[in-house]
Amino acid sequence: MLDWDDPFASTAKALPDAEAGETNTPAKPAANEQGAVPNVKAEVAPLPLNNVAPVNVDDKRVVNGLTDVNQLAPFKYPWAWEYFLNANKNHWTPLDINMTADIHDYNHKLTLEEKHVYTNVMSYLTTSDILAMRNIGLAVMEKMTAPELQIYQARQVYEEALHTWTYQHCIETIGLDQSEIYNRYRVVPEINQKIQLANRRLDSILRSDMDLTDRDQLEDFVMAYAFFGGIFEGCWFYNGFSPIFALQRRGLMKGTAEQLQYIMRDEVLHASFGIRVVKQIIKEENVVLDPVKIQEMFEEAYEAEKIYTSYILRDPILGYSKEDHIAQFRFIANRRARQLGFAEPFPGAENTLAWLDEQANMKKEKNFFETKVTEYQTGGALKWD
Ligand SMILES: [Fe+2]
Ligand SMILES: [Fe+2]
Repeated sequence: MLDWDDPFASTAKALPDAEAGETNTPAKPAANEQGAVPNVKAEVAPLPLNNVAPVNVDDKRVVNGLTDVNQLAPFKYPWAWEYFLNANKNHWTPLDINMTADIHDYNHKLTLEEKHVYTNVMSYLTTSDILAMRNIGLAVMEKMTAPELQIYQARQVYEEALHTWTYQHCIETIGLDQSEIYNRYRVVPEINQKIQLANRRLDSILRSDMDLTDRDQLEDFVMAYAFFGGIFEGCWFYNGFSPIFALQRRGLMKGTAEQLQYIMRDEVLHASFGIRVVKQIIKEENVVLDPVKIQEMFEEAYEAEKIYTSYILRDPILGYSKEDHIAQFRFIANRRARQLGFAEPFPGAENTLAWLDEQANMKKEKNFFETKVTEYQTGGALKWD
């Protein structure tokens, strides 16, 4: 069992006495010539208070706010707190899901074409989720000036890390060559170009010295966050799980698919939250975006998705084709654009994978928790060894 007072106690015991003692014994203050230990306690007085005015809720802003970011309430954005509460309802670890059948499916049932789809989708997703974690944690969260927004984003950072663990768990459990899978996005141009596009769209906001009172920089930030919430998470992730769900619909790789359903529910909230924050900034800061630039952003993402899809689905698999995948991208892109308050980039796009929305809707998943193999453990019940 974990010793909460000394989590690494077992490690320390394994060390030689001298080394363990050196690590664990605090240094004693030196005695003076008379053998008395001097009193080293410093007199500490509280610093004078410099601003005791209560936070005025009307002064809070998404960005460029000047209110105390360490004071949670009063809420100006109670919906952000609701996102945080809802996010905590989708709590799992990849170890909760039985992967036994997937090992058999991968080795004995999947065709070469299906293996190609599975490994490349996993390779893309795992790279993307690390990119997502870094963007929300290092570029976006620090620029928010209302703590209720940052708290949801802190949860989002954790969830992106959890997603990365989930892919790693699947890759390791299936027995894939980890170094080859993780390196694949760097050597397969069709995967790499999507990551490059995301980096190009997001790198410009990965700096803490951005001045969001400058109109050009504010517009850059809003466009980058719109890309991240609306396209990177709202389209590429949302649509990116569907080749695996297509296998699941035929009774294959059901453990992996269930893992991805948990991830998808997080991603639906991430995309929705990002879109809501972007709209709030546009309203509060009177941002006017160029519709031509928005159209270009969607078309660029569409072209990248076509190249990616032509690789992962170069040979169709039963029940799923690159034509379906690309058509669904257009349909979902229209939805995200409408949610952002933009014009539809692909008028007339059709819903080719109507079942995809059902995967995202928890209430329709009547068997969702059936394959859980362990109860979720909390607090003192955890065994660390
Ligand atoms: Fe994620
Ligand atoms: Fe996400």
